[in-house]
Amino acid sequence: MVQLVYSQGNYEARIDQLMAKMTLEEKVGQMVQYSGFWEVTGPAPADGSAAKKYEHLRSGRVGSMLNVRGVKNILEIQKIAVEESRLGIPLIFGFDVIHGHRTLAPIPLAEAASWDLEAIKKSASNAAQEAASVGLNWTFAPNVDISRDPRWGRVMEGAGEDPYLGSLIAEARVKGFQGENLADPSTIASCAKHFAGYGFAEGGRDYNTVDISSYVLHNTVLPPFKAAVQAGVRTFMNGFHVLNGVPVTADTYLQRQLLKEEWGFNGFIISDWSSIMELTLHGYAENLEHACELAVNAGSDMDMEGYAYIDHLQKLVENGTVDLRLVNDAVRRILRVKFELGLMDDPYLYCNEEREELYSMNADHLEDARDMGRKSIVLLKNEGDLLPLKAGENTVLIGALADDKTSPLGSWRIGSDDGSAVSVLEGMREVDPNLKFERGPDFFTGEVSFIRALNDNEDDWSGMDEALEAAKQADKVVLVMGEHGFQSGEARSRTKIGLPGIQQEILERVHAVNPNIILLVMSGRPLVLEWADQNIPTIAACWQLGTETGHAIADVVYGKYNPSAKLPMSFPRNEGQIPIHYGRNSTGRPIQKDGMVFWSHYTDQKNDALYPFGYGLSYTEWTYSDVDVQIDNDGHVSASVTVTNTGNREGTEIVQLYIHDRIASLVRPEKALKGFDRITLESGASQKVQFNLSRNDLGFYNNDGKWIIEPGKFDVGIGSSSRSIEWKEVELKK
Ligand code: NOJ
Repeated sequence: MVQLVYSQGNYEARIDQLMAKMTLEEKVGQMVQYSGFWEVTGPAPADGSAAKKYEHLRSGRVGSMLNVRGVKNILEIQKIAVEESRLGIPLIFGFDVIHGHRTLAPIPLAEAASWDLEAIKKSASNAAQEAASVGLNWTFAPNVDISRDPRWGRVMEGAGEDPYLGSLIAEARVKGFQGENLADPSTIASCAKHFAGYGFAEGGRDYNTVDISSYVLHNTVLPPFKAAVQAGVRTFMNGFHVLNGVPVTADTYLQRQLLKEEWGFNGFIISDWSSIMELTLHGYAENLEHACELAVNAGSDMDMEGYAYIDHLQKLVENGTVDLRLVNDAVRRILRVKFELGLMDDPYLYCNEEREELYSMNADHLEDARDMGRKSIVLLKNEGDLLPLKAGENTVLIGALADDKTSPLGSWRIGSDDGSAVSVLEGMREVDPNLKFERGPDFFTGEVSFIRALNDNEDDWSGMDEALEAAKQADKVVLVMGEHGFQSGEARSRTKIGLPGIQQEILERVHAVNPNIILLVMSGRPLVLEWADQNIPTIAACWQLGTETGHAIADVVYGKYNPSAKLPMSFPRNEGQIPIHYGRNSTGRPIQKDGMVFWSHYTDQKNDALYPFGYGLSYTEWTYSDVDVQIDNDGHVSASVTVTNTGNREGTEIVQLYIHDRIASLVRPEKALKGFDRITLESGASQKVQFNLSRNDLGFYNNDGKWIIEPGKFDVGIGSSSRSIEWKEVELKK
């Protein structure tokens, strides 16, 4: 069933004409992507692998490059492809524009906490504008991998644990990057990745194998990918992992049958970095030639730095092992996207140094990043209303992360400069110039580099005495703690996700001299904060908020912005609860009966999260009343609630709608998000919030991937988080 064929213009006739002129070698060339290998301001490479790549560029044997930086370099390399190769087909330039390019917005997980789809879309569109203005045409984003495992370092790149929220965010990001017209040189093609299931790596260890049921695949993993297709995403990336025994790079069902045939996707699929070559390491392909055959057959259209296609594909087609039609299909898909981007009409469309100057870190982008930042901060606890602070109060700011200008950029910061974030100290001092500050002991040691993550400091306590003295004398202590920028992200899985290194001890020592602590947690993932929750009055999840971190945090801390964010991913009480998420299936022994031990629980820990999905506080108070749910004979559900701001300041509340299918042919989750609304009310004001669901919204995928709707009783509930819901029962008639 072809659901949708999305194309930005009809270029098929022009593609036919071009392909008629192409040799097999040139066709294979379109399917090859190389990483930047040559600083074009220097001499052309004369020998080694760089010289070989250079020669391939000139002979039309490369279709795309990644990691080439700046208009000047991109222009020069494009010129080689266009002016020196026989057919002059332009390259498409890709880059990891994950949450901004020069200006970095909050990491994607943080943005997801805003639940503000318009702001998320705008953030992606700003990123696209900056990236396009430096000559790039394509981002390897959004990462739409759902994950329930905060040990996995890449949760920072996604939208969290929920497929409904994740799907809406996938759509917002794709539309933001791509805009209305792909040939507008302020938009870029986007890429839904990593198809599919990468977020379920066993043990949360990156690149590890994934074993999930068909049920989880269809109901949890695939929906955001499908949403991306429906939003018009032009490319997909597969991944490094093995899914249910098959490396996804060689997965024919996912790539050919589901994505290209059933979903009607007519863009192209790129492998992950050398993931075609890695088929040999998985023990799935005998050698690189075999890997090439398997990947092409399965529908991987472009080989990212894998050397399988460039070295083997032509020969495999010539000897009849690989069907030429598969190559033709891949090339058509790649050329289609190049046409849509406007590159075939003007290969230098994106290369304009004036635009590079105009858009890089411009004031609007910075303002949007700041706004996105404050909308992403989740207030987890605020006992005694320690926040907001007033300028001039007797407050001390403590912590090495507070004046760190790089960690807040996160680990995907390759387009920006280290040290370019506004630190928490800088942001807070703009509001309160006399704010006292103590670094305390350094949390991290070792080399700051993409390759070598920092180690945690375990024994250097320098600065502790001064910090304790300052804490003693202050009325309030603001502590900034958490992860260094490279402690989350790709290949940054961790088995212990508490405060790293000596930070927990620092926290306890400061607490012993002054318990009036406001703990600002900077991290790329949910952390284990159980001790803090029990002992520290005020805690906020501040993630890694990008370039404008200090400003965004100061806006919230000093009350210029009233926090509104809600968690897109549960914070576990300890690592033993992982994987953890709110949408669990009911067990056969959900509650304890007569003091018996035989129910589904841990004997040493609660079942639920410390801070669950959808949870987050405000400086004001919210009251929910008059929950009403009706269903008509067509299965249309109308649900409403009156929300009142009963506190004393204006605020924004994210009102959430959940459903629970009581009896079904496959056990359904106890709760599943199906709607939300973000409303802003003055103190004392009320608003009726209305939700409408169709019959279709009550369905789910069966184990064959078929959407089914089963009549029967449903609970429909409205609340302020996945933990605080008022339920009503309705019945869906046949
Ligand atoms: C590997 C990552 O898995 C992928 O997400 C990224 O886009 C590529 N490297 C290119 O940098």
